[in-house]
Amino acid sequence: MGEMIQIAPSILSADFANLASQIHSVETGGAQLLHLDVMDGHFVPNITFGPPVVASIRKVTKLPLDVHLMIDDPDRYINDFAKAGANWISVHAEACVHLDRTLNEIRKRGLCAGVVLNPATSLTVLEDILGLVDFVLIMSVNPGFGAQEFIPYSFEKIQNLRKIIDQKGLSVKIEVDGGIKLDNVCELVRKGAEIVVSGSAIFGSENPGEQVKAMIKRASKCYEI
Ligand code: DX5
Ligand code: ZN
Repeated sequence: MGEMIQIAPSILSADFANLASQIHSVETGGAQLLHLDVMDGHFVPNITFGPPVVASIRKVTKLPLDVHLMIDDPDRYINDFAKAGANWISVHAEACVHLDRTLNEIRKRGLCAGVVLNPATSLTVLEDILGLVDFVLIMSVNPGFGAQEFIPYSFEKIQNLRKIIDQKGLSVKIEVDGGIKLDNVCELVRKGAEIVVSGSAIFGSENPGEQVKAMIKRASKCYEI
């Protein structure tokens, strides 16, 4: 540990008519990744956007694009998202029948590959594939919507995953997504999260960039104990 937390603002709660300026705000505030939530209305009960929007976003920011695919059968779209400029792609374990193949498809394009676990999915699904991923995304809400309540048992899950990764001597990063705001970011850092996604807490505020700054500042204090 000791490394600073990385903030990945999720544009799900941004003002889509002013997306470029909202992205610039969080970029200026110190965000290290931009989290893009892709939903298909099947895997999750909501629809967002696809590769053309990712390609447009690619043109207005230098931030790495962290594309979270909440879609059935994501294999069909890996290539399109890679071409659109995604840097990180994560797929849900629950949506992939051939998860090993899907992760390899992401890796062979030179992108960071991540596996996402819903709250009800056990860490045991990671056992054989942890060496194939650059990051694990732990959902701390049931995916589909922004501004939901953080599920408290996620803390223990993060702590357990931290132990497994450290015991194996891997450098897999832990990202957490859902219900994260100023008041729980510290506990996440202490449990071993390295990247936190935050949507409504950042884009629901007056000044998204200032909110990112405040989160980084709050998280930096959690290490000093
Ligand atoms: C939920 C999405 C999240 C969401 C987080 O399905 O994957 O990335 O945007 O939003 P907040 O921070 O509002 O919970
Ligand atoms: Zn997400």
